[in-house]
Amino acid sequence: MPSPPTILVFDSGLGGLSVLREIVAVRPDADYVYVADDAFFPYGHHSEEEIVARVVPLVGELMAAHAPDLIVIACNTASTLVMSHLRAAYTLPFVGTVPAIKPACAQSKTRRVSVLGTKGTVQREYTRGLIRDFAQDCEVTLVGSPELASLAERALGGEEVDDADIAAELAPCFVGDGADATARTDTVVLACTHYPLLLDRLIPLAPWDVAWIDPAPAIARRVIDLLGGPGGASHHCRAEMIFTSKRPHRLSRTLMPFFGGRVPA
Ligand code: DGL
Repeated sequence: MPSPPTILVFDSGLGGLSVLREIVAVRPDADYVYVADDAFFPYGHHSEEEIVARVVPLVGELMAAHAPDLIVIACNTASTLVMSHLRAAYTLPFVGTVPAIKPACAQSKTRRVSVLGTKGTVQREYTRGLIRDFAQDCEVTLVGSPELASLAERALGGEEVDDADIAAELAPCFVGDGADATARTDTVVLACTHYPLLLDRLIPLAPWDVAWIDPAPAIARRVIDLLGGPGGASHHCRAEMIFTSKRPHRLSRTLMPFFGGRVPA
């Protein structure tokens, strides 16, 4: 029986936990290392050159330290930029997280889709390419949110976050005639992994009902394609949480559900 794989999940902060929980659900037997590059957070405020120069060598160091079998870049702001650099530099399998524009445009009935991401993600040529290739006849509104990832980070850390601050970041996603359900946005792509962590707040703050597209289940399926399904071996699975700032984390209880109930070391 081969030993269970080690999966390393990487993000600029806590957002990648929204991806981790879906992967843990399909591979509960794997060992997990979650890395939050909080020393460089938020990625959305850095230039493309800075992100490539930061992430590519850091991933090399993490590979040397943790010997993962697969790495998930659970960050749109990084993935829309670094995947080709990582694949050129290292031989490990990598899975990225990019805006789910294709499924969103395929399912929109009103043909009005909004993409809510960091300012960096919505500016990327990669994102523009997804729209050219997959928007079909949809009108796609790109919404670069300056603060929503930081608000999610604070909320998960137990701080008070005002509804008004979240609603202000969300408002530009809602386009068209609010009174006419056939002529307004009906689909919002959550193009930053932090945003699904706020979904319970986003839904009631939205001016009308929309479908929220979270790519995490598709990423988990991709991990299964590459690694296969869970094996039969039972062992004490490893769950580790690393902050690049080296700050001690006091979030163990909050993080447990994302690690499938395990307390991360
Ligand atoms: N979680 C990251 C993403 O998916 C972005 C947050 C940040 O700006 O660092 O894009």
